[in-house]
Amino acid sequence: MAAQPDSNSRTDDINLTTPSFFGGNDPHTIWRRWRTEEPVRWTQGRLRHGFWSVTRHADMRFVLMNDTRIFSVQRHGANLPAGPEFEAPEDALFTELSHSGAQLAIMDGQPHTDLRRQFWNFFSPGGVRDLDAMVRRITNNLLADLLEQGSCDFTTDFAGKVPTAVIAAILGIPESHWADLYRWNNMLAAPEDPEFAMGDALATQTEGVSNIMRTCIDLAASKRGKGGADLLTALTTAEIDGRPLSDTEIGFNGLMFFAAGHETTRASMSTGLVELMAAPDQWRHLRDHRQDREVLRRAGEECVRYSSPLTHTLRTATEDTEIGGQRIAEGDRVVLWFHGANRDPAVFTDPERFDVTRQKNEHLGFAVGKHFCLGMHLARLDMAVMLGAMLEHLEDVEPAGPVEMASSNLFWGIKHLPIRFRAKSGKALREEGT
Ligand code: HEM
Repeated sequence: MAAQPDSNSRTDDINLTTPSFFGGNDPHTIWRRWRTEEPVRWTQGRLRHGFWSVTRHADMRFVLMNDTRIFSVQRHGANLPAGPEFEAPEDALFTELSHSGAQLAIMDGQPHTDLRRQFWNFFSPGGVRDLDAMVRRITNNLLADLLEQGSCDFTTDFAGKVPTAVIAAILGIPESHWADLYRWNNMLAAPEDPEFAMGDALATQTEGVSNIMRTCIDLAASKRGKGGADLLTALTTAEIDGRPLSDTEIGFNGLMFFAAGHETTRASMSTGLVELMAAPDQWRHLRDHRQDREVLRRAGEECVRYSSPLTHTLRTATEDTEIGGQRIAEGDRVVLWFHGANRDPAVFTDPERFDVTRQKNEHLGFAVGKHFCLGMHLARLDMAVMLGAMLEHLEDVEPAGPVEMASSNLFWGIKHLPIRFRAKSGKALREEGT
């Protein structure tokens, strides 16, 4: 373990372990500094359990590629607790579950591989290709409503709603639940944010997590044995170690799919639009190539690299090892900061520049290794369809108010992005269906 940090670096540590810091400050200055000065660095912050912060691309890749072999996601979960009050598992539902191996994202070894395989059909390139028409229909219908208004909160009215509707349709969740689930998810992801808080942060997160889980468990129970083709039905027939999932495991995995399925896509698109509004030449480039899926796909990748919507993931060393020359002891926690890796000048030319024409974009925004994003192809589809529709139907898009960030050190989240625009045409967009 490292020596105690001096008081200057202590401020950085405290900031990165304080979700409200992310609500209105620029954490990039910290990652930029650490990448150069101390790329694998002991961080205590305000948490009881300190951790190693990893900020370089090569080091992060090394950890991810050694999942299960040298690092465990199961031992202490994949995320930093939102604050010290979340560190006593008996008090924190989400934290307790994060240690229990009850969810795909937080499992090691063969059980993880086996469970992941059971969901692959929903998210494979072929499975996702079949969703193309549905994603278009959802996108076009939502956009048609907005075009009539001429302004909107891009994050809540569009970038959040499209992926929410898409993942809800895949899960088989009726529309009557979507707004509640979206609200509860904000409580889970940003429990310190005054906009989402219900009581203190711990109570807020517990309420969000239990409500989403309860909804998934009840819906799955109503689907059990009926042979549906949706993902909640698949959870009722899935197995871990040859036995069916318990209700808690169904709820916790349902929550994972819902949260992962919309939160990160909405953040990528929102950050991308902020950058595009500031770079009209890039908007024009995309508009001129809006029929070209490859151009749109590349733009989506840059939105993911630049925004890195998941700020970090966490692993625990299962043996003594080294990361980037720094000795790490068995049992030490390691936090991988995606922004650090995705703006590492050793890998990216002009890394701080948002550039939709970037050709070589080996970002780690979807991770690599055993836990690489299961929904990556779906996220790419969502983003390409949304971008294509915006470029086709919106003109003169501009900010209509300040951007507001969520208080979360887990998701890099714009929560409000007011914009105004001119509509080319709206009516032709509307299509029948979900
Ligand atoms: C731009 C959008 C997205 C980004 C940037 C993103 C990012 C990530 C990252 C970095 C991980 C790995 C986390 C870790 O190693 O601890 C991950 C895992 C995962 N993602 Fe995504 N994701 C996105 C969209 C989606 C979507 C649409 C889904 C659909 C349900 C999804 C489902 C998952 C699941 C289930 C895992 C866990 C996989 C496993 O542990 O085997 N993600 N995602």
